[in-house]
Amino acid sequence: FESGTLTGKTVFITAGPTREALDPVRYISNHSSGKMGYALAQAAAEAGAKVKLISGPVTLPPPARIETITVESAQEMLEASLQGLAHCDIFIAAAAVADYRPTAVSEHKIKKGSEEIMELHLVKNPDIVATVASMENKPFTVGFAAETRDVLKYAKDKLTRKNLDMIIANDVSRNDIGFNSDENAVTVVTHSGAETLPQTSKRKLATQLIDHIANQYTPLAR
Ligand code: C5P
Repeated sequence: FESGTLTGKTVFITAGPTREALDPVRYISNHSSGKMGYALAQAAAEAGAKVKLISGPVTLPPPARIETITVESAQEMLEASLQGLAHCDIFIAAAAVADYRPTAVSEHKIKKGSEEIMELHLVKNPDIVATVASMENKPFTVGFAAETRDVLKYAKDKLTRKNLDMIIANDVSRNDIGFNSDENAVTVVTHSGAETLPQTSKRKLATQLIDHIANQYTPLAR
């Protein structure tokens, strides 16, 4: 039998949203379903990789035979991403990480008062994929760019700014694809060019993306 394109490789994948607590019963989050990240984890495992899936809270069942670490906040996701990173060959950041978290988590449930306007104070979360990509001996690092306009321009900016090896860009202004949908259409951007993959199921797209990543990942050149 044939061995897969990623046999012997370790792949870390972040997936789903993060939850940033305000108090014991409330949080700030987003509508990420985790479908794309989970499909990538499945496809990477099918290609022979040892996969660590680092997942925010989602309703998907944990994939069979894949090490899945569940986290809540961006800070927890960062910690889980750095754990064992020295053994990671390819890091794929598919999570929709909350950009900001409340400056403090209230110990008790925040009470409603008489005021009509309430202010929340937020502080920027660490950028997980940029932190990984800033490491010495960094893994081949892949990010996602969800944009509503100038998709390619912003994706290329992000590739450079975050020191990534590949960006998978998609247009989230369309509601038939992307966030929370079963289908997606993306453009794969690397330092050597861009290629658009037509709309298909996230499962099929994941297999194509893992193929692209395996082709681009050249351990000998590192
Ligand atoms: O900057 P932006 O949020 O558009 O970048 C998206 C990419 O960066 C995704 O790959 C996402 O998983 C990653 N990201 C991250 N940590 C953050 C914000 C984004 O890893 N705090």
